[in-house]
Amino acid sequence: MNAPARISGYQNVHRALCDRRLVQSMYSECDVLMERVLLTLHGDEHTCRRAIEWKLFRRDFARYYEREVYPATLARTFDPYLARGHLDLPEFGFRVNINLSADIAGIDRPEGSKSETDALVAFTRKFSEGATLFHSTREKSIVRQEVAAALKQFNEQFLLPSRSRREALLKQIEEGSQVQEAPRDILTVLLANRADQDLDDDMILREVAFFMQAGSHSSANALTHSFHEIDQWCRHHPEDRSRIMADDHFLQACVHESLRLHPASPVAWRTASEAFLLPDGTSVDEGESVVIDLMSANLEEPLFGSDAEHFNPHRRVADRIPPFGLSFGIGIHTCFGRDIAGGLGDARTQGEAPHLGTLTNLLKNLMQHDARPDPANPPLADADTERPNWGSYPLIIGQQTGGAT
Ligand code: HEM
Repeated sequence: MNAPARISGYQNVHRALCDRRLVQSMYSECDVLMERVLLTLHGDEHTCRRAIEWKLFRRDFARYYEREVYPATLARTFDPYLARGHLDLPEFGFRVNINLSADIAGIDRPEGSKSETDALVAFTRKFSEGATLFHSTREKSIVRQEVAAALKQFNEQFLLPSRSRREALLKQIEEGSQVQEAPRDILTVLLANRADQDLDDDMILREVAFFMQAGSHSSANALTHSFHEIDQWCRHHPEDRSRIMADDHFLQACVHESLRLHPASPVAWRTASEAFLLPDGTSVDEGESVVIDLMSANLEEPLFGSDAEHFNPHRRVADRIPPFGLSFGIGIHTCFGRDIAGGLGDARTQGEAPHLGTLTNLLKNLMQHDARPDPANPPLADADTERPNWGSYPLIIGQQTGGAT
């Protein structure tokens, strides 16, 4: 078999991600979860689904979430760890974002209990393993079975009750007997549009499960990478430590710089839906695979500087290039969570209160509580995936207990 065509460099990658002739192909390994969810749809079906769901993500949603909802969620999740004095960063990142995912997806948590959150975290971790199966180092057929079992349980425990509540509400609204507005979440949107969008029960289950994982998995990984980069930077640039603590925009610049160096996946895979010339002039046949090298785009020296492959939060980036490069994608499948996770840059919030994003807010909180690597338990890479992620990253938090950085 011929090697797939490979597209690299910022402008070529940008154009390829915006080209409708290139169809998403990295997620078909796990159809049990990913078949016909937003990320794997293309053409008109993708445009229609995206249009109805995107309405939830208007800019005011990210601001509202950051101001009104996130501080309480963060405090509630953080307090038990603070009392314990230690945490595992990828696990903490997942847990704190599970509420965001559930709010967006439309999953009710009637008990608000720890065991309920534990169950949601376990299900969502399994969905993430399914979504990233392409890069898994585990036996794929076993992962598929585990994902199918998790979906079934998630459906019974969480989705069906959440769905019944929304269906009853939508019916009352339709009959005019309900003055309350319908909840603003993906499940409600899907139920309200199920006839127009050809959505059966399994499809709705997969879409909601996909949103559960999309809202937490990449953020948890990005949080751990950012912490690591900042910690390493401060060891060699101790003069910046106090600025990171005091200047929210500088901390956000650190997060964006880390996102640039650690895209959720270093490559995106697509299949050509017809024969044509790629942006770099390479010809591809219908059905041919194309690897889009996001990492090469994010490291392009003329745009990001001659030290592009190193972390440098003081970096000046070329005009009109996002500081995080293409790590949230661009074009057809641009990430819905970009502003929620990454916030808005200084230039985009002039005259308004800053919108820092969940990652910067989380790091700020960790740093305020003197979070530092646990010298007795060094971090470990995630052995279950080819993606360069951390599997565990133990931190000590709160009062110094010795051996801190
Ligand atoms: C640091 C955090 C995140 C990163 C790095 C990230 C990255 C990405 C990337 C690269 C894509 C495009 C994939 C492609 O073109 O093949 C994407 C799509 C998507 N992301 Fe995110 N994401 C993050 C957080 C979130 C959050 C918090 C949400 C919450 C809803 C979210 C929802 C989505 C959705 C729904 C899509 C699919 C869009 C479509 O196919 O039209 N993401 N994300």
